[in-house]
Amino acid sequence: MTKTPNSWTRGRVVAPSLLAADFSRLAECVVQLQNAGADWLHLDVMDGCFVPNISFGVPVIAPLRPLTDLPFDCHLMIDNPETYLSDFADAGADHILVHVEATHHLNRCLEMIADLGCKAGVALNPATPIDVLDHVLDQVSLILIMTVNPGFGGQSFIHAMLPKISAMRARIDGRPIRLEVDGGINVETAPLAIAAGADTLVAGSAILGEAPETWGARIKTLRG
Ligand code: DX5
Ligand code: ZN
Repeated sequence: MTKTPNSWTRGRVVAPSLLAADFSRLAECVVQLQNAGADWLHLDVMDGCFVPNISFGVPVIAPLRPLTDLPFDCHLMIDNPETYLSDFADAGADHILVHVEATHHLNRCLEMIADLGCKAGVALNPATPIDVLDHVLDQVSLILIMTVNPGFGGQSFIHAMLPKISAMRARIDGRPIRLEVDGGINVETAPLAIAAGADTLVAGSAILGEAPETWGARIKTLRG
């Protein structure tokens, strides 16, 4: 186990998800989110196979890169993500998260992400137990616990995920890993997820579903 105290795990992070944006105004939205105090931008890539929805990919992400210095947190909800990792790194991803259910070769995937110079992350669907991560804990910088079944924004937080978040926090055991939650995060559920041990909050509709002039206050409230 590595117990490296570093700035990576310091403080709480709010990562607005662009999935809830007005896609005809993405560029403006990125700038507004930066001005509103977002810590990261969460980019939900969906392939219509791993999840029953198609969102956007590299051709949408790459032109956003010059608009902001915010870290791009790329959540790949795609089958066989290893095929596309270098494309996302080239498009400007800072963090690349793959689903453990979407690859036959998690260990190789995480190595590839690190070799590309990005932070390696792994995401778990609600029904996937945390034990699958036991052998990669020293290879990951981020663990994302899905608090909805992935594929769509605006779903309700699954409260049964709270003990899973606590168990994951205990399993991390001081390692320099951020524990991220994604799905149904709002003013009511964020404090529950934080109390369970999450330190990184993804929020789509709770921020971008509301008027842009309120984004700054909403981000602050979620951060707690
Ligand atoms: C869902 C995505 C989420 C989504 C969250 O599959 O991974 O990042 O944007 O949206 P809200 O916050 O509306 O649940
Ligand atoms: Zn996501």
